[in-house]
Amino acid sequence: MTNTTEPLLSIRGLEVSYRTGDGAPPAVRGVDLDIAPGEVLALVGESGSGKSTTAHAVIGLLPPGGRVDGGRILFDGTDLAAAGERELRARRGRDIGLIPQDPMVSLNPVQRIGRQVAEVLLIHGLADRAAAPAEAVRILGQAGLPDPEVRARQYPHELSGGMRQRVLIAIAVAARPRLVIADEPTSALDVTVQRRILDHIETLTRQAGTAVLLITHDLGVAADRARRIAVMSEGRIVETGRTRDVLTAPRHPYTRRLLASAPSVATERARVRVRVREEAPADGPSGAGTEGTGAERAGADLVVADLVVAEGLVKEFAARGRAPVRAVAAVNFRIRRGECFALVGESGSGKSTTARMVARLTDPTEGRIRFDGQDITALSGRALRRLRRRVQLVYQNPYSSLDPRRSVADAVT
Ligand SMILES: Nc1ncnc2c1ncn2[C@@H]1O[C@H](COP(=O)(O)OP(=O)(O)O)[C@@H](O)[C@H]1O
Ligand SMILES: [Mg+2]
Repeated sequence: MTNTTEPLLSIRGLEVSYRTGDGAPPAVRGVDLDIAPGEVLALVGESGSGKSTTAHAVIGLLPPGGRVDGGRILFDGTDLAAAGERELRARRGRDIGLIPQDPMVSLNPVQRIGRQVAEVLLIHGLADRAAAPAEAVRILGQAGLPDPEVRARQYPHELSGGMRQRVLIAIAVAARPRLVIADEPTSALDVTVQRRILDHIETLTRQAGTAVLLITHDLGVAADRARRIAVMSEGRIVETGRTRDVLTAPRHPYTRRLLASAPSVATERARVRVRVREEAPADGPSGAGTEGTGAERAGADLVVADLVVAEGLVKEFAARGRAPVRAVAAVNFRIRRGECFALVGESGSGKSTTARMVARLTDPTEGRIRFDGQDITALSGRALRRLRRRVQLVYQNPYSSLDPRRSVADAVT
């Protein structure tokens, strides 16, 4: 039995490198880190500082080319850095759960989500074949997934980003591990879902006395959720301490820079107009009347200052054997030239679909889009290609948006 004063995880002098042949310095260069049982530790640092590499080394899941060059990863007394694949496989999910950074690439796209949760229980012998499906539904519900019975029978692409993240949480906590590593679990999600996801991780882990390594680049998240914080830069931990001390009296210059560029400071500078989209009305023909009125009203006071005018935008997706799903129901808005317009709403409320319609990457089922005075709703061919040069999307999910076979330089040219 573990003595509670002993750390659950104790990393000493961890060194990890990727064999890329480009002379890049090692990703992790001598990391020391301790997590006590039940403790929440935030690991912060900018993108590329080595946070994910550290996490992947701990659970023995470094991507191809990645290698632990030195150091020890003591978990409950066992050195995982020296452990074989068999031992690691037995611990992964059972003792250490990982909530990965990217929900889309982490779920099996051709397996129903209930099955993916049940699999964890079966692998670790925590349920038999007969009981696992119901248990999976229960765990999905506990992770905050609405309608878990229905969702369990669906595939990952049928879920929104926030729902997929909840599935990953369910998978990570299914076996009640003693350590959960959450690798930027909310970075791809909108703010309204972020807090609830983090609340959920907190509730689930606190109840079970689970330790959490919370990886984030967001100091606000770290401040809210962790008593202790470790700051990582260029593969090294440059500062560790109580969150309050680190944030109020940072000792390392890097921590000070990180604080100076914290999002909470940055948002004060940007003047952002925020409009909250109302919940979509219930599906059905009743919506048609309001859409017409909306479109007429928007059309009447059209001014040249408006760069984008969306009138009564509707997007329906066909669903096999069911009524079509109304992803966007009668959306009206206008964006003035030079304006930064924020479209805010819960995960799954239709924000991305709306953006894709404005960029004409998907066709609206109903409604009209004007861009710079021109009706672009039905543009095609050369005119559409010209529009694409003027309207650019920055994608929510960099992993599934970039072609893995192209280098970054190829993709931007
Ligand atoms: N699969 C990989 N192959 C080669 N280099 C990688 C790979 N993953 C990460 N790296 C490199 O390792 C360093 C640390 O990356 P990472 O651990 O992902 O940082 P963070 O999670 O803090 O953003 C970066 O220089 C990154 O380019
Ligand atoms: Mg990362």
